[in-house]
Order: sequence, then C-alpha cells, then structure tokens
Amino acid sequence: MSHPRPHAFPTRLMQALLACSLLLGNAAQAAEKLAHVTILATGGTIAGSGATSTTTVGYTAATVGVDRLIQAVPELAKVAQVKGEQVFQIASENMSNEHWLTLAKRVNTLLAQPDVDGIVITHGTDTLEETAYFLDLVVKSRKPVVVVGAMRPGTALSADGPINLYNAVLLAASQEAIGKGVLVALNDQIHAARDVTKTNTSTLDSFKTPELGMLGYIQGNKPYFYHLSARQHTVDTEFDISQLNILPQVDIVYGYANMGPAALNAVVAAGAKGVIHAGVGDGSLASKVVPALSAARKQGVLIVRASRVGQGIVARNGEANDDELDFVAADTLNPQKARILLMLALTRTTDSKEIQRIFYRY
Ligand code: DGL
Repeated sequence: MSHPRPHAFPTRLMQALLACSLLLGNAAQAAEKLAHVTILATGGTIAGSGATSTTTVGYTAATVGVDRLIQAVPELAKVAQVKGEQVFQIASENMSNEHWLTLAKRVNTLLAQPDVDGIVITHGTDTLEETAYFLDLVVKSRKPVVVVGAMRPGTALSADGPINLYNAVLLAASQEAIGKGVLVALNDQIHAARDVTKTNTSTLDSFKTPELGMLGYIQGNKPYFYHLSARQHTVDTEFDISQLNILPQVDIVYGYANMGPAALNAVVAAGAKGVIHAGVGDGSLASKVVPALSAARKQGVLIVRASRVGQGIVARNGEANDDELDFVAADTLNPQKARILLMLALTRTTDSKEIQRIFYRY
C-alpha cells in the first residue's frame, strides 16, 4: 500500500492554507477600500413592527434599534463599512425643531471627520421631506447625506425597508452622490431634498418629485443621476446652526373656502415670528383674512404666501399685491418646506425683501 510521500501532505495543506489566507487577505483589503458610512437612526416605519406579516397599517413605528436594522441587511458589508448610531427613536410626526438641530449638529460633526465618507439617516416618512430639506440647508459638507424611510414595517411581507436601506447606504458610499445636496432614496429612486414630497398615505411609490422630477435611479447596485438641483444647498448656503439652540417660531395656516382669520390670529397671539399662508390656487388670500394678515405684518410677523396646491410657482404680486402688503412669495416650495426656509431666513434677517431673495436662491 503506497503511502503519500511525507513531504507531499504538508505541501497540499500549506497550499490550501495559503490560498485561504490570500482570499481572506484580499477580502479584508477589499473591505478596507469600501467607504465608511454612518447610519443615524431616528425611528419611523423602517424601524417599525406589526402584529402579523400582513400588517401594513396599524403597526408600531420606532420599535427596532439601529443594530438590528443593520444586522437584517448583511449585504450592507458589500457596499460600505457601516457604523450605526441611535440618535432618536420616534415616529416622525413627533419630529421637532430641537430634534432637527441635534441631528444636524451630529451630521456636521461626523462629516468633519476624515474617517466618515457619508451618512444615511433612517427616518419616518411622515416628515421625512422636511428633515431632508432642513439638512439640505444646514449641512456644511459635500459628502453624501441620504435620508431613507420605508412604507411598510420590517415584519410585513415584501417589506421595503431592507432594500431601501441597502440602496441608501450604497448611494451614500458612492462617488456619484458627492456634492449633490441632501438626497432622499426610496423605491429605487433618488430625489432632491428640496422638491421631493410624500404623495400617498401608504403605497410603496409614495415619494415623488412631481413636475420638477427626481434626480435618478438606483439600479443593479449602482446610482444613476440624470438631473441636478438648480438651487443652492449644503456648503453653498448662508445658514449656520452650529451656535443655535432654538429656531424662530413659524406656523402654517391652511387656506380653504370660507376661511376666516381665527387660526391666523391664534398663531400670531401664540408668538409666531413668521406665518406661511398655504393659500388656495396661486396663493390666493380670502378678503376676510387680508386685514388680519396685514395687521400681523405691521406687528413684525413675516408673512409668506404659499399654496396648498402642491405644484407650480406662487408668483410675487400675482394673487396679492406683495409689494404693498410687504409679503413674501414662496416660489415653488410647498408650505411645510417654506416654513423651514423662513425659520432659517429669520435667523439671518427680518428684512422682507432680503427674505424674498432667499426664497429665490434656495
Ligand atoms: N408614524 C409615521 C412616521 O414615523 C409612520 C410612517 C412611516 O415612517 O412610514 O413617519
């Protein structure tokens, strides 16, 4: 019976061990080359859970921690070196100005670090567009910041959270996303923070940028951009929140047939420094409300004419004489985003003409 030559056995084992170590070494080197992405978790449905696999409404948002979100998508390790931080754990209807300031300061601190290449923020979808726009105006880095959510909890059949998170991390790790402003990525689509909005209470394709258009797609593990934001953002804005602990109180008053001044008078009495009038049509003002708006303006409250319609330009001096009333026209910002821009504008100036220029710049 022939015995393997003694010198042969160690050779084959050594060859196998060498091959394994080379493979492991290559894998470690490949991983080392991946971008470093920090996931800041805030709650929402992407961190939600339901009683059954078919519970897509009536679930509980903000129950799953960031570590479990990351563990649920092991493929993340193929596209980035990921770390997670639980900044908040809330349903996003409870997002506040204070949450925004805390989150923005954490984002800016992390992005100033050389070992952070991009950031993903997991967020409830109800106010996702608002947080994204606030960050778009105050983040002071060209590094990618991607805000992501989900329309179904992770416990549901065909949950969208895991793939949305994977795509968001892939986008935040990409060269293509650098310098594009804060991005919103859901449903394989890439949107600009300024113009994206939630258009459906529950469907997977809820986030859209109607008329002005989304920026691109994520397909086959790669981002594709076809448009760029035309308005200034991130490092090109004048807004600095680093020393701010509070934002000016700005409220929104919704326009409708037969409206009166009661809601407006209430927010002014409560101390609003600015009011967004979400008017009907092209920001039209009911004649019953104009005296109260004018009185508020004379008290020093900044008035911005926006529209409840959702698309199109609210033209200065169109449905109202803004020059005479000393009001500001919101341009294309929807009421909730006009509120964010007016809050930040009021940290810089109370001059209505300068604020109008700000609304044409961002
Ligand atoms: N309460 C909602 C929120 O946290 C759930 C909706 C969602 O996250 O998709 O925004």
